[in-house]
Amino acid sequence: MQVELMTVLSNKEIAHNIYEMILSGQMVNEMTRSGQFLHLRMKDPNLLLRRPISIASINEDSCTLLYRVVGKGTEDMSSYQVGDQVDILGPLGNGFHIDFLQAGDQVSVIGGGIGVAPLYELGKELLAKGVKTTFILGFANKDDIYYEEAFRQLGEVILCTDDGSAGLKGHVGVALDQVQPQAVFACGPTPLLRLVQSTFDQLEHVYLSLEERMACGIGACYGCDTKRKDKRVCTDGPVFQREEVSL
Ligand code: FES
Repeated sequence: MQVELMTVLSNKEIAHNIYEMILSGQMVNEMTRSGQFLHLRMKDPNLLLRRPISIASINEDSCTLLYRVVGKGTEDMSSYQVGDQVDILGPLGNGFHIDFLQAGDQVSVIGGGIGVAPLYELGKELLAKGVKTTFILGFANKDDIYYEEAFRQLGEVILCTDDGSAGLKGHVGVALDQVQPQAVFACGPTPLLRLVQSTFDQLEHVYLSLEERMACGIGACYGCDTKRKDKRVCTDGPVFQREEVSL
């Protein structure tokens, strides 16, 4: 973990209120695992709290973040221009473990909304290992969909939208009976994670990445407790094994 002023190479809207920010800096060399996150300071000095943003892709000399503009902080983030420097603490948290998988294994990767973002780097790692992946990706509607083609390069994609404007109609639950995976990885809102947790309760390898508001990001403030007192999302997670968290 380090603090660095990383340089903005690109920062643009790629779907409705979804932005892609590409950053360069030495910290990229420390990013070794999907599922970790960065803690960004905002441009406006009045916004004191950093914002945790998951790493969507680790590239050769840069990293990609995907974030949804939902309030003052993320709106401020969207105003960063090419060449700006961003104060970043990271990389933070424990990411996805895939060491137990072998080439030819079948897994499902399930995401909803902005929770789809960290699953892209995970998908790249799974492909590199020769694992066969089915991505089940849920969005509110067709305007919210991002990285569809990028995911199709990595495996099978089942799209779901709440209003049926693209793919299957409904949340990701409508597609879960179409897969029989050996392992499951999921990220998204709590109802999605709860559904994955209960649907695959017989499976040994189920990993859930929790979306949580964070203040310090380094285990000091207890602002991101899971319902188990000994686990904090920022340092013990954000990725947990199914039985480690009560949702
Ligand atoms: Fe402070 Fe996790 S954000 S302990």
